[in-house]
Amino acid sequence: MSVHKKSEVKKITTHQLQEMKNRGEKIAMLTAYDYSMAKIIDSAGIDVILVGDSASNVMAGNETTLPITLDQMIYHASSVVKAVKRALVVVDIPFGHYQGSSGEALRSAIRIMKESGGHAVKLEGGSEVKDSVLRILSAGVPVMGHLGLTPQSIYKFGTYTVRARQEAEANKLLEDALLLQESGCFAIVLEKIPAELAKKVTDALQIPVIGIGAGPDVDGQVLVMQDMLGITNEFKPRFLRKYADLHAVITNAVGHYVDDIKARDFPNADEKY
Ligand code: KIV
Repeated sequence: MSVHKKSEVKKITTHQLQEMKNRGEKIAMLTAYDYSMAKIIDSAGIDVILVGDSASNVMAGNETTLPITLDQMIYHASSVVKAVKRALVVVDIPFGHYQGSSGEALRSAIRIMKESGGHAVKLEGGSEVKDSVLRILSAGVPVMGHLGLTPQSIYKFGTYTVRARQEAEANKLLEDALLLQESGCFAIVLEKIPAELAKKVTDALQIPVIGIGAGPDVDGQVLVMQDMLGITNEFKPRFLRKYADLHAVITNAVGHYVDDIKARDFPNADEKY
């Protein structure tokens, strides 16, 4: 059982997250892509569930987040929403469904909200996506921003290394964060940037800042669930803390199952009708 204080609220809203930042309570966020896992992490007390486009990697086995479609994101999100009683469910708008025009961004956000029942959307980028953010917000859909390492732009960056180490990129990131706040985003994710810069951004913003590989001085943390549970055992970035070794647990369990079948031990006399 966790000994840490969790928000007692019945349902987490964007307003609750703001209040959490205001009173200094850290926000706990994880990804999920399916009903069974979302049900477990929701009842374990997670504040925000992100139906991330990392589903493209961990669920579909793609090398990048680019191939996942809007229909596939809606499928994952609607499975998660059905399981969730307390957490705020944020859904990534996938690559190619908001960059073209703000009208397209709005149509994508509306499809996600109507067809999945998600509570908010997330998109990557700063000034380049300002019009899309404003248009989505004008329809009453809460938007979470995402700066730093933005995996949808991997072919522009060329690598998944730490972003914004240089002054010019760090300054642009801070400007973008302020712009997203002014535009009306309820929170932003900062991915893989120096901890000092993440602290500067967090101190400068009134809205919550959620970090992944952005150090401790942010308002909350997010990890990909399969990574922190040790299912994806090849992925070992410095920022990742593994809370379980499910790769070993599952390998062991399946090994026993195979052995029992081969040995004609399963099913036994009590396990039949
Ligand atoms: O898609 C995702 O999982 C994400 C997190 C890494 C923040 O965007």
